Amino acid sequence: MLGPQEDKLCGIVSALAALSFVCFAQSTSTGNTGISVAKTTVDKLLKGYDIRLRPDFGGPPVIVGMSINIASIDSISEVNMDYTITMYFQQSWRDKRLAYAEMALNLTLDNRVADQLWLPDTYFLNDKKSFLHGVTVKNRMIRLHPDGTVLYGLRITTTAACMMDLRRYPLDEQNCTLEIESYGYTTDDIVFFWQGGDNAVTGVDKLELPQFSIVELRLVSREVRFTTGSYPRLSLSFRIKRNIGYFILQTYMPSILITILSWVSFWINYDASAARVALGNL
Ligand SMILES: *[C@@H]1O[C@H](CO)[C@@H](O)[C@H](O)[C@H]1NC(C)=O
Ligand SMILES: *[C@@H]1O[C@H](CO)[C@@H](O)[C@H](O)[C@H]1NC(C)=O
Repeated sequence: MLGPQEDKLCGIVSALAALSFVCFAQSTSTGNTGISVAKTTVDKLLKGYDIRLRPDFGGPPVIVGMSINIASIDSISEVNMDYTITMYFQQSWRDKRLAYAEMALNLTLDNRVADQLWLPDTYFLNDKKSFLHGVTVKNRMIRLHPDGTVLYGLRITTTAACMMDLRRYPLDEQNCTLEIESYGYTTDDIVFFWQGGDNAVTGVDKLELPQFSIVELRLVSREVRFTTGSYPRLSLSFRIKRNIGYFILQTYMPSILITILSWVSFWINYDASAARVALGNL
């Protein structure tokens, strides 16, 4: 038989157990509802979404902000008149069809969702060869904001043409550019701008280039006219100056070393043969 004391204790223990069970059940159910809200939100956004039409079709142009974080400049070649750059390239625009009010979170989605959304048809005018990094998955990011802003990031390596004037070589300065344009949409449909103004391009101060130093970086945004219409164009240009110290070291140092070495070996051989002659005479 349980006394009144034990009875009370038992009551408290079972109440605690019940409470913790309720708490546990609630936490799992909020986890599930979080996922299911996100799932229904994404389902709702993509249902009936027409990838063929730009945001605000028939209305004002889509305004696309761009920013670049330069990871490295891998080579600058006078022979091929080009340079190779690896960068994080980000574009952001507003697509009202993708606005949601169900949750206050930004949604970072799997990169494959990018294939189901309208994207700006941005290309690099002066690129010779570019690729999107694909290990371990395609290096691209898609993030949606509640107001319909889409952030689209890519990690790209591109080799871009840079016409160099070598008349003052090796005391030369060059001006290399990266020209970004919309391929098909004219300024009636799409407008580009450097997001963050002069801070749109970052990572330049971290670059290590033995042969050159970057003297100046300039960002320009303009419109260019073709027979098919006028297109938005952004350009990033940087003026680079050849490091003369590195040039001398790389170009003349090996030949100086070889000259010194050949003199040393000549004198060693000369001494050895002189010694042999002296020994023969003994
Ligand atoms: C969503 O992203 C915006 C812009 O990057 C940021 O200001 C905001 O704090 C983010 N919201 C949440 C809930 O993380
Ligand atoms: C590079 O040349 C272009 C075209 O001539 C010019 O618009 C740009 O300002 C130059 N950039 C620099 C950094 O001097």
